[in-house]
Amino acid sequence: MSENNASAKLSSARLNAPTDAFVEAFTASVEFDQRLYQHDIQGSIAHATMLEKQGILTATDRDDIIRGLEAIGESIAQGNFEWSIAQEDVHMNLEAALTESIGDAGKKLHTGRSRNDQVATDIRLWLRDEIEVVRDGILRLQQALLDLAEREADTILPGFTHLQTAQPITFGHHMMAWFEMLVRDRERFADCNRRLNVLPLGAAALAGTTYPIDRHYTAELLGFDRPSENSLDSVSDRDFAIEFAANASILMMHLSRFSEELIIWSSAQFGFIELSDSFCTGSSIMPQKKNPDVPELIRGKTGRIFGHLIGLLTLMKGQPLAYNKDNQEDKEPLFDTIDNLQGSLKVFAEMMPGVTCRKENMRNAAMKGFATATDLADYLVGRGMPFRDAHDVVGRAVAFGVAEGRDLSAMSLEELQGFSETIEADVFEVLTLEGSVAARNHIGGTAPAQVRAAIERARTAITQ
Ligand code: ARG
Repeated sequence: MSENNASAKLSSARLNAPTDAFVEAFTASVEFDQRLYQHDIQGSIAHATMLEKQGILTATDRDDIIRGLEAIGESIAQGNFEWSIAQEDVHMNLEAALTESIGDAGKKLHTGRSRNDQVATDIRLWLRDEIEVVRDGILRLQQALLDLAEREADTILPGFTHLQTAQPITFGHHMMAWFEMLVRDRERFADCNRRLNVLPLGAAALAGTTYPIDRHYTAELLGFDRPSENSLDSVSDRDFAIEFAANASILMMHLSRFSEELIIWSSAQFGFIELSDSFCTGSSIMPQKKNPDVPELIRGKTGRIFGHLIGLLTLMKGQPLAYNKDNQEDKEPLFDTIDNLQGSLKVFAEMMPGVTCRKENMRNAAMKGFATATDLADYLVGRGMPFRDAHDVVGRAVAFGVAEGRDLSAMSLEELQGFSETIEADVFEVLTLEGSVAARNHIGGTAPAQVRAAIERARTAITQ
């Protein structure tokens, strides 16, 4: 990055003194917004194409501009481009390089345009592409979850409320709960892209331009649904960035919850699962350790993603119309959100096939917490007892079990009949873990048959 040549900055005839060197570096964004170069070139090519169609540029100038921009794009991709802080941002760097390579035609590219509508266009183009990558990452994770759910459709573990044993559930059912959260996430990003897909270019600095531009044509060239309605709103709107950050926050909140469960489940105290060694690390001092670093790090990264949402909201809250330099601060939070979101999704999807269920430990845990108590109550209700009375009978049976250190299924028929004469020998069918989960056999229930049906519906839905 070259830092010389401060006086060349924007070569503004209005300014008498060159920008102070520190101010120049402080206000420049090129170190990070160079990431937008491909989309800046894409927008400029569409703009030049439209200017020529409208008779504002000659065909020769247009062709020179397009060829020049493409060559610059290639030299950037090959790492041969020298970015200059004196040129402030990606937009000025590209325009200066273009003029240097093709001469005066390069100076005509900015006709009927401002960096204000240019940058608003660039970010939308860039984010639109990145959101599709995120949606793809969600899909991959969903597929990994479906495979795991299918593999473990019959595996039984205790389900919790208040982190206290509640009722037996199947591991497949639990995985499908995560899957459902991701269905909503994927929809939310598609929804965000629908609202984002509007062309700001043509708003120019803030009021529009005096040239006879065709914004519908530019919109069509860039794959936008339509040109934006209001020029002031176009250059200052960052709602789409906030909406994206909000969706990203909800997705990370989900990944963080998944991570938390993986961390708890892989602890020695729970021992429900084993994570593949390649997603864990050891300790430099404790030889026995196998730490679930990947889920922990994802849980940790959730904090900065929430931070970016608050940062963007705060960035916008005090801005009068229209464009303000504040908006330059929208990029780093967006870049960081994208990088961490895509990374987290990728590593999570890759981690899923290596999750091993320690089925014996899950079963033992389910047997410990009187997880089939509700099933006993339901059994009594099935024999005509009002639910509240059944609740009371089972409550007394559980209190006895706690005192004796025995599960309901480990009591004799006589012992159980001591709490209610309604109980008969067939009670033991509902007191087994298998009987308990199989009985919840309706759409949305934990029965293995329902889990398999849900997986099948999901596989069809995600391919559409
Ligand atoms: N680098 C600026 C940004 O990111 C581009 C727009 C600058 N516009 C201006 N009037 N200074 O927002």
